[in-house]
Amino acid sequence: MDFSKILTRVNEVYGEVIDWRRYLHENPELSFQEIHTANYVYEKLESFGGLELSRPTETSVVARLKGSKPGKVVALRADMDALPITENTGLSFSSKNAGVMHACGHDAHTSMLLGAAKILTEEKENLSGEIVFIFQHAEELPPGGAREMVAAGVMDGVDQVAGLHLMSTIPFGTIGIRDGAITSASDIFEITVQGKGGHASTPELTVDPVAVGAQIVSGLNHIVARSVGPLDSAVVSVTRFHGGEAFNVIPDTAEIGGSVRVLEESTRELIKSRILEVAEGIAKAHGAEAKVEYTYGYNPVINNEEITKELTSMLETHFTDRKIEWIDPMLGGEDFSAFSEAKPGCYVMIGAGNDQKGITYPHHHPKFDLDEEAIKDGLKFHILTALTLTEK
Ligand code: NI
Repeated sequence: MDFSKILTRVNEVYGEVIDWRRYLHENPELSFQEIHTANYVYEKLESFGGLELSRPTETSVVARLKGSKPGKVVALRADMDALPITENTGLSFSSKNAGVMHACGHDAHTSMLLGAAKILTEEKENLSGEIVFIFQHAEELPPGGAREMVAAGVMDGVDQVAGLHLMSTIPFGTIGIRDGAITSASDIFEITVQGKGGHASTPELTVDPVAVGAQIVSGLNHIVARSVGPLDSAVVSVTRFHGGEAFNVIPDTAEIGGSVRVLEESTRELIKSRILEVAEGIAKAHGAEAKVEYTYGYNPVINNEEITKELTSMLETHFTDRKIEWIDPMLGGEDFSAFSEAKPGCYVMIGAGNDQKGITYPHHHPKFDLDEEAIKDGLKFHILTALTLTEK
């Protein structure tokens, strides 16, 4: 494979990829509603010729590219959905869809994978194995689109899978990789404290769910501090507490809710059972009753050691002007895990923040933006990953 030729094509196609990204940015669609986006992606892929296209679900697209030599089947994944946020970037290509914004960079993910499909299709005669381009819907809204696509058979016959996220929180020029967990599980819990309401002046005749709830919150904050090992990573955040309406009424119930982030399955189960014990036990001690609903969100993305090693060496060989960094896991959820549980995979984080250009806002912020130069890194990553893994 002639790498210099490929890199020349990356530079040539880059401008077109930016046009696609800006078009998608102007026309964002919410999770499970990516109808126009999926059609746009389908039409672009069709125009490249030589790809086998399918629509595994209503708003997702898969393209298969068969090489002419034997090799592995490698899937590359991009997510396509936007968020319910009103854009405030002032960009010339700001969202035209009121209240909806590509505030996580999935517009860039989609356009980069399109660019990779275009360039790799031109190389069809020189390719080994098969490349499966996965354009996934609904990454932002659990239960997520990835699960649906796996259930629809997208990973059947695939040997390995790779994906990436552009990150405004990592400076442009740095590419983050690690083996093991790179993103966390993200679960939610909801607790209803059932007390016995009454007059504020006669607490002795009531069971006060607000007072009990306050102790439960305090107890929940002890879980990570006292039950999880200090070298293990976990977060339990109570983010909601609702109870009562009036100044002179002790309410009947109070509701508490929050988020759990963990990297290890065993820690996840430990925290889940501790939440139940703490809530139910504290409520019982005070004559109240707590009902706990624990909902599993996305599983952690666990990078396969061998693929991570291969891609780290690919990055070190072909991204000599970039800093390749072994990063800490991020305690955010990412449903790429559904693909990498089906088949071994690797997910990387590509730096797209830039202080000098004022690109400093975090993901899911109304002023979120990314350095478009990073799109070239992502485009290159997809192509070189496909070439590296299919030939192994
Ligand atoms: Ni995202």
